[in-house]
Amino acid sequence: MSKRRVLTGITTTGTPHLGNYVGAIKPAIAESQNPDVQSYYFLADLHALIKAQDPQRVQQSRLEIAATWLALGLDTDNAIFYRQSDIHEIPELAWLLSCVCAKGLMNRSHAYKAAVAENEEGGVPDPDRGVTMGLFGYPVLMAADILMFNAHKVPVGRDQIQHIEMARDMAGRFNHIYKGDYFTLPEAIVDEKVEVLRGLDGRKMSKSYDNTIPLFVSAKKLQKLVRKIKTNSLEPGEPKDPETCTLFQIYSAFATAEESADMRRRYAEGIGWGEAKNEVFEYLDAQLREPRERYEALINDPGHIEQVLQRGAERARAEANVLMERLRVAVGLGRFQ
Ligand code: TRP
Repeated sequence: MSKRRVLTGITTTGTPHLGNYVGAIKPAIAESQNPDVQSYYFLADLHALIKAQDPQRVQQSRLEIAATWLALGLDTDNAIFYRQSDIHEIPELAWLLSCVCAKGLMNRSHAYKAAVAENEEGGVPDPDRGVTMGLFGYPVLMAADILMFNAHKVPVGRDQIQHIEMARDMAGRFNHIYKGDYFTLPEAIVDEKVEVLRGLDGRKMSKSYDNTIPLFVSAKKLQKLVRKIKTNSLEPGEPKDPETCTLFQIYSAFATAEESADMRRRYAEGIGWGEAKNEVFEYLDAQLREPRERYEALINDPGHIEQVLQRGAERARAEANVLMERLRVAVGLGRFQ
């Protein structure tokens, strides 16, 4: 029996933070160790160009994200780990999908609608101001990412569910128009157990809120950031509520069940914020020390990362080629013979 195929992409615009680790990287690495699964993880660097037009930032982010996944133990013999931009079949497929995808479907895309809403609220006369074709057609490229490898399951955050539904729509239309079973219909998986980590200010940890704790900062910087996590004005000795506490949430995302239970008890006993923050820092630092060292070594050896990604690209292309050849024939772009 063939394996279940699980695929996900990471847009390369930022620096990986604790929230990315807990919400996406850690579960993905665990999944890639499941022998019943073939996983495909890729740097969505073509998608990055939609959001970032600063070449240095895109390049740096690609390197940081690749180094992060490798430092945290992604086994690239199991998982196929590649850069989207290395697989030229993906934009080719995106074009074929564009030609079966109704424009009206894209009009309903959340990302596009949000951009239009922002213009309207700001009183901008052109509702499409600042909207590129890249942003408008974002879900088509994403569908190509997924359908290229006939992924069954796509682990994503909530905000991406609509895109997976759109990919199903495009797959179904293509299969229907060209009368064949070319594409598997993918399913989104949103893991309810995986927590959305909160950031320094208590909102969802996100680069757009500028409230993140990057995964691999120095111990000193990490300590500074942990001290900045927003708490309340309760004094040492006063009982504290772990449920609503960002510091506790971050701790327990890394700690074992027993360690969390122990910390919970100490909250009830009135641990002071300074002490709690020190403990959380010490704990995180101990957990991150080894991967941080591996990360530093990797970042300083981009040639090695390049090699790993080239090997991933070769494996991905070997599959993409076969499907793409069938698709060319299906639409009438096959070779003359
Ligand atoms: N759009 C996704 C995000 O911003 C990243 C992404 C690109 C992706 N292509 C994908 C995720 C394909 C899953 C499958 O999070």
